[in-house]
Amino acid sequence: MNKINICVVGTGYVGLVTGACLAHVGHRVVCVDSDTKKISALKAGKIPIYEPGLEKVVLGAVRKKRLFFCKSIAEGMHHGGEAAQVVFIAVGTPPRADGSADLSFIENVAREIAVSMSAYTVVVEKSTVPVETGEWIVKTVNRYNKKNVPFDVASNPEFLREGSAVGDFLKPDRVVVGTNSQKAAQLLKQLYAPLKCPVLITDIKSSELIKHASNSFLAAKISFINAVANLCERTGANVEDVAKGMGMDKRIGASFLKAGIGFGGFCFPKDLEAFHWISRQKGYDFSMLRAVKEVNEEQKMWVVRRAEEELWNLGGKTVAMLGLAFKPDTDDMRFAPSIDIARALIERGAIVRAYDPVSSENAAKVLPPEVKICRTPYECVADADCLAVITEWPEFKELNFKKVAESMRHPFILDGRNLLCPATMRAQGFTYRSVGRP
Ligand SMILES: NC(=O)c1ccc[n+]([C@@H]2O[C@H](COP(=O)([O-])OP(=O)(O)OC[C@H]3O[C@@H](n4cnc5c(N)ncnc54)[C@H](O)[C@@H]3O)[C@@H](O)[C@H]2O)c1
Repeated sequence: MNKINICVVGTGYVGLVTGACLAHVGHRVVCVDSDTKKISALKAGKIPIYEPGLEKVVLGAVRKKRLFFCKSIAEGMHHGGEAAQVVFIAVGTPPRADGSADLSFIENVAREIAVSMSAYTVVVEKSTVPVETGEWIVKTVNRYNKKNVPFDVASNPEFLREGSAVGDFLKPDRVVVGTNSQKAAQLLKQLYAPLKCPVLITDIKSSELIKHASNSFLAAKISFINAVANLCERTGANVEDVAKGMGMDKRIGASFLKAGIGFGGFCFPKDLEAFHWISRQKGYDFSMLRAVKEVNEEQKMWVVRRAEEELWNLGGKTVAMLGLAFKPDTDDMRFAPSIDIARALIERGAIVRAYDPVSSENAAKVLPPEVKICRTPYECVADADCLAVITEWPEFKELNFKKVAESMRHPFILDGRNLLCPATMRAQGFTYRSVGRP
């Protein structure tokens, strides 16, 4: 294979996985981050995020001298005397108060890349950005590229999922490359050749839209099945059977049809908002996206509604939240439904305890201070009036539910992720409710 010199700017969930996996398949990669603690940790062989399988790939690539870490873009683009041919921008694009994406990190990085380029460079937007961001990157690089170094810009959205990021990156359904340059397209095809997957080449704007449209579509599937679950609860139907019957139709597909207490994380909520915002900016009110969000906001309050139905007033009652991260196998708490749920319970006077196998440290920074974070699930549920499953960590299935029932003040389970078996839980003496299942 043809080894390519790569610089990845932003060494977070996407940047680190991208850098490590590209080094794993044979390229030479320098990962840059302005967070000096992160870079020092990585240089010391410590992985700053929880992502299954990532440590092995990072340490393996470092050992083979294909993966390096540094703190500045200028150094990262000329590390070891080798000029980067491709620079990925993988910094955050957080939401602003009005729902639009904050692109200031992207602009800062584009400017630094422009002043650091010394030979033909392909500047790749890996971060999720609204359509037309590529044009701004071109303008910015042109403005600061005083030496007129040749460059091209490409969009290459990332579709990995936290919790299975390494596998997703190495075995993608497709790689999307948006560029108006044949030369850049060739180089990026070569870069992804070791993954042996279909590479779709489009123009930059279409590629940018593919990412926002894909995430919004997946979010819509989740909200759709959650709305169906609400109807199931009102009629006695079972949403799992309904989803199965729908998903067996190839035109619909079975994935993303799992009812629960709504989506969270750093992608769906903010990408949905940003997609809606950019549509409005362009004079089109994509109203369907508003409905997807509204269903999700309402669904997050499922736990609160059902707790009140069973316990009446929540003031002074103890709710034990099992799981805090927005999904299992990650420590990511960004936009996790647990935050809104905890806040709503506390507003109603409930005493909230919580347990998560890996995200306790991150959770403590974003949950209301009244939430007591426990070290074990058993400590969390002791004397509780309600156990609420918030994240479907598989280990929660293995709890000793006899012990759990005995230790609770009121053996009542709200299974927000349909993780447990209703008949088994009821046989163990619990009052048990799940989403859209009788
Ligand atoms: N997390 C996901 O699952 C996922 C999946 C697909 C796409 N995305 C998109 O990828 C982008 C990055 O997401 P993430 O989850 O990796 O974010 P992150 O917050 O984990 O990582 C971003 C990193 O960029 C660094 N950074 C910011 N400014 C910098 C600068 N000027 N120079 C160097 N480093 C800088 C930050 O310190 C941070 O480490 C976002 O646009 C996101 O929407 C995320």
